[in-house]
Amino acid sequence: MRVKILSTGSYVPEKVLTNFDLEKIVDTSDEWITERTGIKERRIASAEQATSDLAYEASIKALKNAGLSPDDIDLIIVATVTPDMLVPAAACLLQMKLGAKNAVAFDINGACTGFLYALSVAEKFIRIGASKRALVIGAETLSRFTDWTDRSICVLLADGAGAVILEGTRKNEGIKVIDIFSDGTMWDFIHMPAGGSKMPVNEKVLKGRLNYIRMRGNETFKVAVKTLEEVVDITLKKGGITSSQLSLLVPHQANIRIIQAMAKRLDLPMDKVMVNIDRYGNTSAASIPIALDEANRMGKIKKGDYVMLAAFGAGLTWGAALIKW
Ligand code: ACO
Repeated sequence: MRVKILSTGSYVPEKVLTNFDLEKIVDTSDEWITERTGIKERRIASAEQATSDLAYEASIKALKNAGLSPDDIDLIIVATVTPDMLVPAAACLLQMKLGAKNAVAFDINGACTGFLYALSVAEKFIRIGASKRALVIGAETLSRFTDWTDRSICVLLADGAGAVILEGTRKNEGIKVIDIFSDGTMWDFIHMPAGGSKMPVNEKVLKGRLNYIRMRGNETFKVAVKTLEEVVDITLKKGGITSSQLSLLVPHQANIRIIQAMAKRLDLPMDKVMVNIDRYGNTSAASIPIALDEANRMGKIKKGDYVMLAAFGAGLTWGAALIKW
């Protein structure tokens, strides 16, 4: 039994925050952000929207595109580092909003690799017969955990959600390879010091702005490039194909320079690489499913095409998947 993607869907909030808007908030410039990251603008959730609300909008679209109702789903996994609240899982809130009464629902925290983590788990559920049809979502409201006084991070992070529906298949299609990895020794490269059990939020935390995401950008950048270049090579080998047979690479949208380095390593022209970081910034676990849905809707993926997904993020975590569409 293999597992295929039946449909995709995505949602980004209406509010657009441009680099020029950021110039008014912190000491930065459109030129610096564009050159160093590739980002021109990003979307920010409204005050009423939490992660499960963005996930809901993406899920409804994926369900509609598959011609299914919430009753047809028996597994919901939300990949997120920004759940609505610590307890319960955003997936349970999403289940309630969808009315998906036949599903079991839980969250996964794999940071920017979260969508691949969730995809990997759902694939195993289906392969062993524990699930017939799964809804896998990457959704983030990173703007709530962004220090808007820190120019090194606030220009990067953004909000959004993407969803896919998975189902078993007996044909030669679907997920051919999916591999996920982690290395906790570099946990402090990207982390949020407070807000968990180690350092609950108190006045000292708020004063020190410890309840926001921090990143050692330059060190993370170097590890990301090396790790992603390696993982795409390994995934191609495991899949028994060469990069020239790839129709599309859908990478996590963290930095255009990381994406270009991967494309170079694979000897892929940029028109075979899905890029939307210019419009959406880094939406962590949501970035791959948003990009995949856009590529799908743009007609960039046809039946039988080989599509590669690859991500890297906090943990550190990384992974890749090779899919025959
Ligand atoms: N505007 C203007 N200048 C800035 C800004 C800004 N927004 N941010 C930093 N700078 C300055 C710095 O202060 C520094 O100045 P200095 O030389 O005077 O000290 C200079 O620009 C260079 O800073 P670097 O951090 O070295 O810049 P770099 O080229 O590395 O770009 C970036 C930073 C964009 C963060 C990059 O390192 C990166 O993309 N890192 C990897 C991100 C990633 O892959 N993360 C994993 C996923 S994220 C997740 O899991 C949530």
